[in-house]
Amino acid sequence: MPALPGSKTPFWRRAPRLILRPLDYFEDNYRRYGAVFQVGAGSPPSIYVADPAVIQGIFQADAAQFHIPAQGVGSGLTFLLGDQSLLLLDGERHRRHRRLLMPPFHGDRLRAYGDLICTLTQQAMAGWQPSTAFNVRGAMQDITLRVILKAVFGLGDGDRYNRLRHLLSTLLEGLGTPFSAFFIFFPGLQKDWGPLSPWGRFVRIKAEIDALIYAEIGDRRQHPQPNSADVLSLMISARDEQGEPLSDGELHDELMTLLVAGHETTASALPWALYWAHWLPAVGDRLHQELDSVRPSPDPLSYASLPYLTAVCQETLRIYPVAPTTGIRIVSQPLTVAGYEFAAGSVLFLNIYLVHHREDLYPDPDTFRPERFLERQYSPYEYFPFGGGHRSCIGSAFALMEMKLVLATILRHWQLALPEGDRRPLKPVRRGLTLAPPGNLRLVPLARVAQPQALPLG
Ligand code: HEM
Repeated sequence: MPALPGSKTPFWRRAPRLILRPLDYFEDNYRRYGAVFQVGAGSPPSIYVADPAVIQGIFQADAAQFHIPAQGVGSGLTFLLGDQSLLLLDGERHRRHRRLLMPPFHGDRLRAYGDLICTLTQQAMAGWQPSTAFNVRGAMQDITLRVILKAVFGLGDGDRYNRLRHLLSTLLEGLGTPFSAFFIFFPGLQKDWGPLSPWGRFVRIKAEIDALIYAEIGDRRQHPQPNSADVLSLMISARDEQGEPLSDGELHDELMTLLVAGHETTASALPWALYWAHWLPAVGDRLHQELDSVRPSPDPLSYASLPYLTAVCQETLRIYPVAPTTGIRIVSQPLTVAGYEFAAGSVLFLNIYLVHHREDLYPDPDTFRPERFLERQYSPYEYFPFGGGHRSCIGSAFALMEMKLVLATILRHWQLALPEGDRRPLKPVRRGLTLAPPGNLRLVPLARVAQPQALPLG
């Protein structure tokens, strides 16, 4: 097959644009070269894919067809997650960890977290004052961190919970600037020049977090909580096909992975949803109407099936997906998919953002229009904010439920508005490997919604 179209610009020259203006970078290439293009002069090449037929073939191919890189962006995350993280494991070990980690995030287990999410959202809202603007990223990060610490660790309200909350938010805030993404893309920059240097600071905070996580694992091994629904309890009691449990090191790395992957992402998606609901009054009005139409029920999950709320969350993750591409897949043996031949060693990035902006699938793709999800069903190769195939996100159902319950709880308790000076169209900015709304987005609580005592969650 002839070489794919694309630009030969070397990585070090395209990296600044890819890091600082990724969406422009993707769109320019798509316009110039089409839905499957290669970047750089490497052989085998790095390839971006935005063609649903090719994505279907890749998601449906055998897991053994692919591996992940041993170096580069993957190793840039090792300092944060450890080398036994699901995100960084491959082959048989990846399959083993996935089997052990998936059950807590599916089926009836999920229901157990519904009440928790609503209660923690209410706790986080307790400090909001009428007419006093609050920072949306900070508030959503606070909620999602509380949720993940309680749901994953099952931590009580003690010192360890407060300390971990504080340290994790400091660490992730530091890593959330566009500049710090360079540490991930260029792991060679990860040098400890003392406690005041940016990297030195991360290293020290991370050491303190590790000590707290190991202390919690030790306590829980000594005092098992067999009836507890939290993920750590389930992971401690899980056994693989050989009857082997996860070791302390494996537990630590997977906890760190769930904390980071499960909280950073949702903390970026929720501010977008709130922004759209207040930037576009028609969206906010329809959401309020739908929420008002639900009769008080003791089951918070009744919100999770509301069609318009669901469509708002889907459209939020379509227009600016938190992860603009899936994780990297390197082709292990030559692969032919939908007429394309990918040589062994080809580095594939399935481009979520570009597929979500194809005119043929999403007319007027830059317009936020939740109705498109009520009018049409999209295939998992046309809409895939959580990736797909053997590396798909294990927290997708949890994340969608969390988004819906947090939004429903907030909108049922408060009327919010964008401050006059903040009414402007927003574009995503980079946070590590993900994209997020600008960190200075604010909302003002106007008034409490009437009759809070009638709410099912109050
Ligand atoms: C809006 C929220 C979220 C988004 C947009 C998101 C997106 C993604 C994406 C795109 C991937 C890569 C999939 C691929 O390469 O095909 C992924 C992987 C992953 N996600 Fe999520 N995620 C979210 C929430 C969560 C939550 C709540 C958790 C856990 C509590 C989680 C845990 C993971 C893990 C462990 C992986 C690695 C899976 C593997 O490599 O086998 N994510 N996520």
